[in-house]
Amino acid sequence: GRLLIINGPNLNLLGTREPEVYGTATLADVEEICRTAASAHGLAVEVVQSNHEGELVDAVQSVRGSAERPGADGIVINPAAYTHTSVALRDALGAVARPAVEVHISNVHAREEFRRHSYISPVVDAVIAGAGLTGYRLAVDLLAERLQD
Ligand code: DQA
Repeated sequence: GRLLIINGPNLNLLGTREPEVYGTATLADVEEICRTAASAHGLAVEVVQSNHEGELVDAVQSVRGSAERPGADGIVINPAAYTHTSVALRDALGAVARPAVEVHISNVHAREEFRRHSYISPVVDAVIAGAGLTGYRLAVDLLAERLQD
């Protein structure tokens, strides 16, 4: 099995970006956490990050596989700011029919009002917010369990 971990805009800056909100760990640490958790379940992972909405749509669609790229069986996605704006990303997740978990490092419900609405949540299996980078591990563990059934 194979999981695709998708990270949205500004998450390339993790570690230096608002460390009081997002902590000091980096996107490389996210990758390490996901890889370790997935390999414990015998799953491979690919981690992608983009600041561009259309590239995130392409990444979601890529789980169907192509001649150039293997597909994926499940998705962990931190859509970052596109959580609160993107109908395109929601429709992509709705289209691909793969189990998916939405992760937010921070507790979006304890912040500005505009962060409380997610276009993504209605089309995913689970939402994890406020668990820090541990949220990515929990998401991988959950998908591994779902993929076993
Ligand atoms: C975030 C929360 C979003 O509101 C914000 O725009 C982000 C990161 C999080 O991981 O806590 O960029 O998705």
